[in-house]
Amino acid sequence: MTRRKIILVAGARPNFMKVAPIVRAFDEYSRTRRGKSRPLDYLLVHTGQHYDASMSQIFFDDLGLPPPDIHLGVGSGTHAEQTGKVLIAFEKVCLREKPDLVVVVGDVNSTLACALASTKLEIPVAHIEAGLRSFDRSMPEEINRILTDQISDYLFTTCSDADRNLVREGVPKRKIHFVGNVMVDSLLRHIHLAAKSDILERLGLKDRETPKKYAVVTLHRPSNVDDPKTLKGILGALGRIGREIPVVFPAHPRTAKHIEEFELKTPAAGDGLRITAPLSYLDFLCLMSKAALVLTDSGGIQEETTILGIPCLTLRENTERAITIREGTNVLVGSDRERIVAAAHHALEKGIRRKKIPLYWDGKAATRIVKVLAEMW
Ligand code: UD1
Repeated sequence: MTRRKIILVAGARPNFMKVAPIVRAFDEYSRTRRGKSRPLDYLLVHTGQHYDASMSQIFFDDLGLPPPDIHLGVGSGTHAEQTGKVLIAFEKVCLREKPDLVVVVGDVNSTLACALASTKLEIPVAHIEAGLRSFDRSMPEEINRILTDQISDYLFTTCSDADRNLVREGVPKRKIHFVGNVMVDSLLRHIHLAAKSDILERLGLKDRETPKKYAVVTLHRPSNVDDPKTLKGILGALGRIGREIPVVFPAHPRTAKHIEEFELKTPAAGDGLRITAPLSYLDFLCLMSKAALVLTDSGGIQEETTILGIPCLTLRENTERAITIREGTNVLVGSDRERIVAAAHHALEKGIRRKKIPLYWDGKAATRIVKVLAEMW
């Protein structure tokens, strides 16, 4: 029986928790279907878009991911440099390995580059987390999403909004599969382990666990952290919130670099604002799950707070994950200092109630994906 060979691609921090459940579901499929159907072999390729130990290796450790079979080591650069380097390096991998399918996740530069290299070699592409749209083409991720979806053969979606977006863009319905959210698969699998993390002790927050009395922040979008005035305004808001409750801010390397470069750290930081290095997956899950409030510009954290029932203020003017506003605990507040402070006060006083858990955000998305692939291909 000939084996089917799949390449799974991960490149940046938010990819690792999406790839981990797929790896597990492929392993599970091969174990339970041994001898009954064509075996699946997969290779894990890490593009190296994120390379610091705190942005990459620690996630492999926490998620129990096997080490990548192939590491492209592309590193940072401009969008064209980074995308181009992945495109060239990944094409060589495809020519050598001759996979039957390439699986990409999310919306980072590595996602688009690997999808493009594959499709030009007529290798089918599966895109996990397809169809999300912010309708804001100034976001590099929006461009990556639109283009990846146009050239993918299997489009796995997290919500019905995404299905509608794809149909509107002319994607044939037969290619679209509403399977749920693999990020939630990882969250539900690891939340109990995360509860054992000692991150609250390490940050001196143990006495603030019940009742919940601290806030958590993440920021890395170019629109928030590349302009000194905008970043200063946001840090000013965090400093003000920090006078009421401690604010923990594990800073992305890009953000940390800009705080340093723009000399913003000392004047803007209020007493309660703690800027730390990036945290591991389990430490961050633990910290987030016990917080009174999360402020973020990340996509995945809007989804994770919805599942955890934690109020989330998204420091953006739009989101590709509107379902987290309609059904979850997310509110868009933009990046204006006064608006952030007012929204934080409101959320801390009144809370933000979750309406429901989105359909199929149940920990079984990866199993559904592998089932679709095994049946259709
Ligand atoms: C990328 C993704 C973004 C995702 C984010 C999560 C794109 C277009 N953007 O943004 O969608 O939400 O990852 O973190 O793909 N750096 C380090 N060490 C690292 C990685 C980055 O120091 O391990 C620094 C470098 O200075 C680099 C900068 O961060 O230039 C930005 O990294 P890059 O991969 O270009 O984009 P992110 O902002 O991380």
